Amino acid sequence: MAHYMRGMVTAVRPVKEYVRLSIKAERIAEEMQPGQFAMISAGTEPLLPRPFSIAHVDRGVLSFIFQDVGRGTGMLASLRVGDSVRLLGPLGKPFRVDVGDRPVMVAGGRGIAPFFELARRLSGRSPLLFYGGRTQAQIIETGFFVRLCSEIIVSTEDGGMGHKGFITEPFAEYLAKSTPPVIYACGPHAMLRRVAEIAGSVPTELSMEARMACGYGICIGCVIPTGREGYRRVCLDGPVFSGDEIRWQDLK
Ligand SMILES: Cc1cc2nc3c(=O)[nH]c(=O)nc-3n(C[C@H](O)[C@H](O)[C@H](O)COP(=O)(O)OP(=O)(O)OC[C@H]3O[C@@H](n4cnc5c(N)ncnc54)[C@H](O)[C@@H]3O)c2cc1C
Ligand code: FES
Repeated sequence: MAHYMRGMVTAVRPVKEYVRLSIKAERIAEEMQPGQFAMISAGTEPLLPRPFSIAHVDRGVLSFIFQDVGRGTGMLASLRVGDSVRLLGPLGKPFRVDVGDRPVMVAGGRGIAPFFELARRLSGRSPLLFYGGRTQAQIIETGFFVRLCSEIIVSTEDGGMGHKGFITEPFAEYLAKSTPPVIYACGPHAMLRRVAEIAGSVPTELSMEARMACGYGICIGCVIPTGREGYRRVCLDGPVFSGDEIRWQDLK
């Protein structure tokens, strides 16, 4: 069940190209499952709340990792410890976690956010992480994943860290030799589309993004093309979808 509540900011700090925002919100923290998100707003400008994956949960505190790209995220980045924010969550369909050994996670840039909690829940299953960014400034907190994953493969487009190029390249090489029980991915749509192509018949759990107004299925503002002709709401039917459900050619 989602809770509409106020939470208190307990930390705001830059992490390379991102901001890590921690908010005390016990009821959401208790019920959250990996892959779920919360709508957050602070003040009245912008009016609409913004959606963010819940990255970490620790003793009633939720942490979010976000990129400052506009008005809403700029406002969140300027919060101070002790400020109050409005939250609605946990929302959306989470990732499946009842999976076999050596599941694979593929993250692009800020798409790393939902994998912190997922990696914790999958740690007994020896997960692998493929993690790409444009530059090393988009590759964060690898130490956290080193403790939980059996392998981490990093790439940057400029070659500043790890493999030079897109993360889908080492991911494709790995899939040519191995068959993981499931592939989780979160990142830009182009990366998700490529992950779904490379995955072939391996099940995929892709966390999709869309502009959202309400976050709970009412405004129909967040639909993406799925199935033969249908559209589904990212906030309620997702954000996690199987790659073969999505009509990639019709996705804006
Ligand atoms: C389920 C879900 C989880 C998300 N989790 C995270 C997260 O963990 N970390 C994070 O940094 N971001 C996340 N996002 C994206 C985040 O919600 C947007 O970046 C944020 O809403 C932008 O708000 P703004 O007011 O700062 O930007 P605006 O001023 O509204 O827009 C700034 C620019 O960003 C573009 N933009 C805004 N929202 C989106 C979007 N959803 N998809 C593509 N382009 C967009 C706009 O077109 C514009 O060019 C998530 C989105 C969804 C749907
Ligand atoms: S954001 Fe309103 S229906 Fe999804």
